[in-house]
Amino acid sequence: MGSVTLKDLSKQLNLSPSTVSRALNDHPAISLTTKERVQKLAAELKYQPNQLARGLHKKRTQIIGVIVPEIRHDFFSAVISGIEEIMYKAGFTIMVCQSMEDSQREIETLEAMLAHQISGLLISVSENTKNSLPFISVLERGYPIVFFDRVIENINASCVVVDDFDGAFQAVEHLIQSGYRDIAYIGGPKNLNIQRKRLHGYRTALKKNSISINRDWIVSTGLNEKDGIWGAQELFKVEKRPRAIFCINDPVATGVYSVVQEKGLSIPDDVAVIGFTDDPIVRLLNPPLSTISQPKVEMGKSAARLLLEQINHTETEFVPRVVTLKTKLIVRKST
Ligand code: RIB
Repeated sequence: MGSVTLKDLSKQLNLSPSTVSRALNDHPAISLTTKERVQKLAAELKYQPNQLARGLHKKRTQIIGVIVPEIRHDFFSAVISGIEEIMYKAGFTIMVCQSMEDSQREIETLEAMLAHQISGLLISVSENTKNSLPFISVLERGYPIVFFDRVIENINASCVVVDDFDGAFQAVEHLIQSGYRDIAYIGGPKNLNIQRKRLHGYRTALKKNSISINRDWIVSTGLNEKDGIWGAQELFKVEKRPRAIFCINDPVATGVYSVVQEKGLSIPDDVAVIGFTDDPIVRLLNPPLSTISQPKVEMGKSAARLLLEQINHTETEFVPRVVTLKTKLIVRKST
């Protein structure tokens, strides 16, 4: 096994260890020229990423744990695809599990992964995860974690998110510019960062346009199709029905469609609907759904790169980073 370390490479190349680490992990922020210089010298000197040495020392494997709420959702399967692409190139295998939106199952899965001596964890938490202590314990036991999408804030871990506030603001601003003022929001559990930020974007867009907030038009539920059904039924019980609905994500918007059409109403003439995510299936809805696209594969790649940096970069004190990705308004026929 080569005795060359990351520090040796950085000295010979006159580059910082983090630049060398990013170059070895194909980070987009590093120029092609630098990547080629680093990878050429690493090959010449038969450099072995010290994660292997560290892994052997701490009995770690070349396995990365990935936990998502539900694999069946296109959003999470696309993120997993991005993670796997980066991890495969770095010589790691991923072990993918799902919490099924259950925080107890999430912890049991986490412990099972640690028993397999994973080298690190990538996770988007369940809709009822409220306790950060299990994750703090994992960090203290020396296992790096990177959160993505639904994150635990204010702990010693990096995370990758989209600009949830701006995405929600864009969605509601679009409804207002399309002539709607009676706009409802079907959101998720308040313990989730994505809920807090998307609700804030909704409220801010209304306030910016001097539209008063009707509390009867804000409902909180889960994050699946059945939750959209419940949310729409609640909104249609209100004496003054909203004329547009912003949904926390596309699965919820899909549930709204089924209630609106069951009531013999039309989208968007009787009620406009806009989602968040841009799942491929929503283009096939009748009418196709307007939504906010999230860069799913890039989210997975960014989270994987952050975790690899942390695994490879043991020389200096780790400083958690937050990567925020941009969203984009996709206008179709539902608004
Ligand atoms: O549908 C994708 C979006 O909602 C993501 O933000 C994910 O958290 C899901 O629940």
